[in-house]
Amino acid sequence: MSATTTPHRIVFANEKGGTGKSTTAVHVAIALAYQGARVGAIDLDPRQRTLHRYLENRAETTKRRAIDLPTARFAVFDGETTEDLDELAAEVGEGMDFIIYDTPGRDDAFARHAATGADTLVTPLNDSFVDFDLIGQVDAETFKVRRLSFYAELIWEARKKRAMATIQENRREMDWVVVRNRTQHIEARNMRRLDQALTELSKRVGFRISHGLSERVIYRELFPSGLTLLDKGHLGELGTSHLVARQELRALVASLGLPMPAARAPELALTAQV
Ligand SMILES: Nc1ncnc2c1ncn2[C@@H]1O[C@H](COP(=O)(O)OP(=O)(O)OP(=O)(O)O)[C@@H](O)[C@H]1O
Ligand SMILES: [Mg+2]
Repeated sequence: MSATTTPHRIVFANEKGGTGKSTTAVHVAIALAYQGARVGAIDLDPRQRTLHRYLENRAETTKRRAIDLPTARFAVFDGETTEDLDELAAEVGEGMDFIIYDTPGRDDAFARHAATGADTLVTPLNDSFVDFDLIGQVDAETFKVRRLSFYAELIWEARKKRAMATIQENRREMDWVVVRNRTQHIEARNMRRLDQALTELSKRVGFRISHGLSERVIYRELFPSGLTLLDKGHLGELGTSHLVARQELRALVASLGLPMPAARAPELALTAQV
């Protein structure tokens, strides 16, 4: 049973700001909860607290409307050391199938600690070479990848170490998934170039590429209520574009290839806050 095993750690990380880490993290957390998984979530940005506030808003909405919605057990980390973080993770992750870390969009020691210890590392990337720079630098003329960035090297090293520890400590290998996020279909040429550079880099660094959420106003509107696209019946009238969006989200979660627990009734998903 999951209560005696460590939860699978999913870390949303990109040192660049505004790529959609928090929005994706919340949606993935709720999608997993809807599938009956027990989900813990830690917000590593004590200043912005986007994930925390989102889930707080969700708790308030369920109370105000007297409804029951799957959610995650959540907490903000504002401790001083990586040991403090591991302690909080043990607390939030107790009895959980998954623990989700949302990290700040800047270089941060705790975000690195979480990222290098991830079972699944998710890096949302906007369709721009400005974002791509986090992983590698491309040639100004040919757009060929010139070299890996410091961040890619860091993850590469962590994965190597991890691969060695996999057998001794019975841990999974790290799966790094770069997610094309907030995509818009207006910039075909830029998208194609990014596709090529990302594919080239994915082979060198060993990450997978997946498709994330498209750019849609609904993602910005849901925050105050803490609702997600999956909360059917609570969102009011939605057009067909939201059906597509929901499909997109399901495809993203499926592409992460997460180890789902044996079927559990969704109503058992936790609602408690730490
Ligand atoms: N798919 C999307 N479509 C439209 N807006 C989005 C989408 N994803 C995120 N946003 C909006 O973009 C802004 C940044 O998103 P979010 O806070 O999720 O990014 P982040 O990577 O967590 O940022 P930070 O690095 O500051 O933590 C927010 O206003 C959010 O509502
Ligand atoms: Mg954020």
